[in-house]
Amino acid sequence: MSGKNVPVLDRASTDTAGLTKQVNAEHRPDENAKKSVRLGVIGYGYWGPNIVRNFHGLDNCQLVAVCDKNPAALKRAQKVYPGLRLTTDFADILTSPDIDAVAVVTPVWTHFELAKAALQNGKHVFVEKPFTSTPQQAEELIELAEQKNLKIMVDHTFLFSGPVRKIRQVIDAGTLGPLYYFDSTRVNLGLFQHDVSVVWDLAPHDLSIMDYVINEKPEAVVATGAGHLNGLADMAFITVYFPGNIIAHINVNWLSPVKVRTTLIGGKDKMLMWNDLEPDEKIKIYDKGVDIASGQGVYDLLVSYRSGDVWAPKCEQTEALKVELDYFIDCIVNDKTPMNDGAAGLRIVRLLDAAEQSLKDRGKVVTL
Ligand SMILES: NC(=O)c1ccc[n+]([C@@H]2O[C@H](COP(=O)([O-])OP(=O)(O)OC[C@H]3O[C@@H](n4cnc5c(N)ncnc54)[C@H](O)[C@@H]3O)[C@@H](O)[C@H]2O)c1
Repeated sequence: MSGKNVPVLDRASTDTAGLTKQVNAEHRPDENAKKSVRLGVIGYGYWGPNIVRNFHGLDNCQLVAVCDKNPAALKRAQKVYPGLRLTTDFADILTSPDIDAVAVVTPVWTHFELAKAALQNGKHVFVEKPFTSTPQQAEELIELAEQKNLKIMVDHTFLFSGPVRKIRQVIDAGTLGPLYYFDSTRVNLGLFQHDVSVVWDLAPHDLSIMDYVINEKPEAVVATGAGHLNGLADMAFITVYFPGNIIAHINVNWLSPVKVRTTLIGGKDKMLMWNDLEPDEKIKIYDKGVDIASGQGVYDLLVSYRSGDVWAPKCEQTEALKVELDYFIDCIVNDKTPMNDGAAGLRIVRLLDAAEQSLKDRGKVVTL
């Protein structure tokens, strides 16, 4: 990785420490909300501009600087935000005393090193998905953040989208009854990544949604898949086993002629379909199910199919990333542990790691 050696600043010498102490002592939300968290963003490629745009638009934070090692990326940033401090060297962001928190929006293999240096320099970190390349790296960052009393948030964007929040509410309210399955399809043509497989690129979305809505500890993972172009898997079928006979299946594919973003969640009492490409009515709940009144043997099974009403609950339309970044600032200012903290990031990295192992072994069961 480029960049000069990043000296580790004493956290007490940064303003972040002062800010956090003051907030902890006071716990007055209205006053706290006025305090501004000062941010630096590293990475202004494909996703970085969305992070920068949203931080820039939030009232309770101050976007101080953007870093990208590619000067062409910085030129793009300069056009949109003429007054912003720009740098090609991430060390400028990590050592800057006027920055309290850093967003790491660079390729996966750089997350660990950049997030570690940020934490060592007393900065809270917002790290893109997937959190790290290995579970060990995630564990190290979590420990470091705990030692330094700093926040880690991992960008599991969908957890802040209207449909996913609604699905969680519906499940928590018991509307679906005991869960049977979660079945998610995320396929389209490209965007091919040169450094990670489709598992590490797309599946973090589905796995983090699954983790949030099923809210159980998974037991085992089985994955199959294939790579047809550059040696990295471009399609994968991941199965996750949970206690209580709940099963999850995730289909991610960069070689699909059409874009599909559909999730089916089946419960004993009701079933749900989320089609994220629908402009309205993204979620539909079906009063459908199967009941079996059993006799003695298999031939005595009395199967009855239930097919009742279908309804579409209203979902919030606010941009998920805006809600998430607002929450990041709130967690820093009011000293809260984010729901998508380092531990949540680690859970997903463990699943990705298990899926990759299983895929390499053509579907071997990997116990978690
Ligand atoms: N949450 C989401 O929905 C979502 C969507 C897309 C991408 N992502 C994630 O965002 C991250 C970035 O993905 P991308 O598609 O924007 O990648 P990208 O390659 O388009 O952009 C990454 C940028 O980081 C810069 N960079 C790399 N190393 C650097 C360093 N050491 N110092 C400074 N700049 C550096 C590159 O020059 C590039 O401009 C990945 O982790 C990806 O998984 C998340």
